[in-house]
Amino acid sequence: MSQSAFITGATSGIGYATAKVLASRGYRLGIAARNSEKLEAVKQELEMKFNSEVYTYVLDVRDAEAIKQVAAQAVQDMGVPDVLVNNAGLARGLESYEETDEADIIQMVDTNIKGLFLVTHAFLPGMVKRNTGHIINLGSTAGLYAYKGAAVYCATKAAVKTFSDGIRIDTIDTDIKVTTIQPGIVHTPFSEVRFHGDKKRADAVYEGVDTLHPEDIADVIAFVLDRPLRVQISDIVIMADQQATGFMVSKTPRVPHK
Ligand SMILES: NC(=O)c1ccc[n+]([C@@H]2O[C@H](COP(=O)([O-])OP(=O)(O)OC[C@H]3O[C@@H](n4cnc5c(N)ncnc54)[C@H](OP(=O)(O)O)[C@@H]3O)[C@@H](O)[C@H]2O)c1
Repeated sequence: MSQSAFITGATSGIGYATAKVLASRGYRLGIAARNSEKLEAVKQELEMKFNSEVYTYVLDVRDAEAIKQVAAQAVQDMGVPDVLVNNAGLARGLESYEETDEADIIQMVDTNIKGLFLVTHAFLPGMVKRNTGHIINLGSTAGLYAYKGAAVYCATKAAVKTFSDGIRIDTIDTDIKVTTIQPGIVHTPFSEVRFHGDKKRADAVYEGVDTLHPEDIADVIAFVLDRPLRVQISDIVIMADQQATGFMVSKTPRVPHK
């Protein structure tokens, strides 16, 4: 039977690109996010383009009970997934911490940390029982380099990296692999979400930068998954060419190569 993958946040950006790349490789997919219409649109697209088997799950990863129900349903529909891509995540605001809205703090922590931990908790026992599985967690360069106005977001992504390292230790005696993907600047709706729908402000983040595309990250995920059993890629950091740290991005116009 073909491989299966469960992807959170598969309706946009990196998760959507990952769903497409895995569908093109014949994976059976479980895709989860909050917006049911977008989920259905992605399912239809993947079925049409790749003849994929796709199951959709309306899920807010902040809801612990919902995670348990969705995971149980997904296992019933497609078996314990061979691959879990913990991608759902977001930044909210770019203010100094003392001015950060409490609701934004809670949303980032509950989505990026609690949600990711509990989705993993729901699927990992089945993987351990089967002695196989690959967990791909979306961290960020923000988890390696803190930047101004993003104390909480950066801390949540540092938590993702440490959590991944922890479960890699816990599953050392199994064939389960754990990978943290840490992208730099990727052009997706991420900044629009961060700025609460302010598209103009979001566009300014990417202006003058040859950013990464979500497909670049999806390709790396496919590469990580394609390695032979003996190879476990623990961490990958991917930056844009014009990027040096998490938030240090050059907007100097490119000089032609000599
Ligand atoms: N873009 C970047 O520059 C960048 C860089 C490094 C790391 N990352 C990380 O990559 C991941 C994906 O980001 P992206 O840029 O692709 O963002 P995006 O385009 O905004 O996509 C985020 C996805 O997560 C889903 N989501 C958000 N909150 C959710 C919740 N509570 N429950 C379930 N699903 C939820 C969204 O769908 P719904 O709104 O329908 O739920 C959407 O499908 C995030 O973890 C982000 O931190 C992004």
